[in-house]
Amino acid sequence: MRILFLGDIVGRSGRDAFVERVPGLRAQLALDLVVVNGENASHGFGLSPEMARAFLAAGADVITLGNHAWDRREIIPYLEEERRVIRPINFPPGTPGHGAVVVEVPGHRRALVINAMGRLFMDPLDDPFRAIQAELAKHPLGRSVQATILDVHCEATSEKQAFGHSFDGLASLVIGTHTHVPTADHQILPGGTAYQTDAGMCGDFDSVIGMQKGGAALRFWRKMPGERLAPAEGEATLCGLFVETDDATGLALRVAPLRQGGRLSQALP
Ligand SMILES: [Fe+2]
Ligand SMILES: [Fe+2]
Repeated sequence: MRILFLGDIVGRSGRDAFVERVPGLRAQLALDLVVVNGENASHGFGLSPEMARAFLAAGADVITLGNHAWDRREIIPYLEEERRVIRPINFPPGTPGHGAVVVEVPGHRRALVINAMGRLFMDPLDDPFRAIQAELAKHPLGRSVQATILDVHCEATSEKQAFGHSFDGLASLVIGTHTHVPTADHQILPGGTAYQTDAGMCGDFDSVIGMQKGGAALRFWRKMPGERLAPAEGEATLCGLFVETDDATGLALRVAPLRQGGRLSQALP
């Protein structure tokens, strides 16, 4: 299966880059499955149903979220009607929406996508490790699903690596989101799971993690909130990871970074 995972879409520049580039990338890379994190699409904070519909129409198969899941409150009823948009699985029981989804992939294949949130330096939700373990047990890789993608939304690199090693051999891809800066550690772990500590963002890199640099930097100089942060508006770099998997095992055969447009050095699988 040919999979593209893209990091957090930040603001208008990220949205425009996704909608403009993903249809072409789907064809060019013969992609079977596209997953994107959309938690910062709406002015840096949350995702509106209208934006989710636009990403799905442009070629996203699944949209994941994170700590900004609830910033646009209109998403709450939408998460019940649109199963392809998921929020972290380890919110307490009874939270609206779902933390995992199985989608159909051309060629009579199925893919499981799970979104989970870390607990280090973040609002500590329920245990994400046990929540993921339980979900994976329901959909064994290489049997009921041909691919499993795990978006681990964490602040700490250590916690993301712990997720990678914990589920090595049990998922096709474990990839980090939330920190918005692509890491150079993409690899296939010893058990066959593709891994990258952070996918990066789909946003303008002349910024502080996607937000306008002046106001964001000032917050570090002056210990007061200052003006509301707004997304940087220059051309976005679409950042993510391409993974090719073996349908028989669900494990990774090839992994390569993708960076297209904007300021970062360009990479195409
Ligand atoms: Fe984010
Ligand atoms: Fe986040």
